Amino acid sequence: MKQNIYDNPIFFEQYTALRDSGITANDFVEQPALKSLISSLEGKMVLDLGCGAGSFAKYCVENGASKVIAVDISKNMIEKARKENQHESINYLCSPIEEVELHNQSFDVIVSSLAIHYIEDYPKLIDRVISLLTENGEFVFSTEHPMVTARKEEISNWVKDSEGNKLHWALDHYQEEGKREGYWYIDGVVKYHRTISTLVNTLIEKGLVVERIIEPISIPGGVELRPKLINEERRPSFIVIKAKKN
Ligand SMILES: C[S@@+](CC[C@H](N)C(=O)[O-])C[C@H]1O[C@@H](n2cnc3c(N)ncnc32)[C@H](O)[C@@H]1O
Repeated sequence: MKQNIYDNPIFFEQYTALRDSGITANDFVEQPALKSLISSLEGKMVLDLGCGAGSFAKYCVENGASKVIAVDISKNMIEKARKENQHESINYLCSPIEEVELHNQSFDVIVSSLAIHYIEDYPKLIDRVISLLTENGEFVFSTEHPMVTARKEEISNWVKDSEGNKLHWALDHYQEEGKREGYWYIDGVVKYHRTISTLVNTLIEKGLVVERIIEPISIPGGVELRPKLINEERRPSFIVIKAKKN
């Protein structure tokens, strides 16, 4: 059962307030790593899976992409994307990634930024990605790091001393893949935990060539603007993977 948490009004309001601040982990950690893995956007057909408010789709056309199809399950996010990141070369589609209809289309670059941990059937998604990629096409995605999604009790993953200083990160249930339900602005947010070996080996088993993996930390200057990003140096929040179809 696909969840559409971004259309929950409380979640949407808080999430967009965070993202609109412009000083998030997305801005200083995840997006720079994701962008660094894309070889070139010049003249490329791009598919953005879980596009959110469309800032990445806009980045693609501003950097030479000939066309971007950007897909998201959330009406709220697609509405925001159409309002804030409209462009004649971007086509926003409101649809679950799992069901999006893209007849007779193929893409040089398929990107997914922080949406894959919401997808239950990862092998099926990869089959779909492969079927939509051109020869030599690139699949670049970020997802929440398995170190972050592993624990079943999501409350306070940092173990702290009596003064509230962070001692270390609590990792547990790592090998037990599957559904995790936790609190993020609201109760009951569903994500799917997968190990690093599953994330990578599924790509390899299905014939993609894994070219690069990044467990990013903040770009210079990010920690000054958002001090808690220093924690990325103690445990990564994200993993970013690039694979190619040969
Ligand atoms: C963390 S946000 C990231 C948005 C965007 N990629 C970005 O980096 O700004 C995750 C997005 O994935 C979308 N999403 C979650 N599950 C989805 C699904 N099954 N199909 C399509 N979109 C989905 C959400 O609606 C949300 O917009």
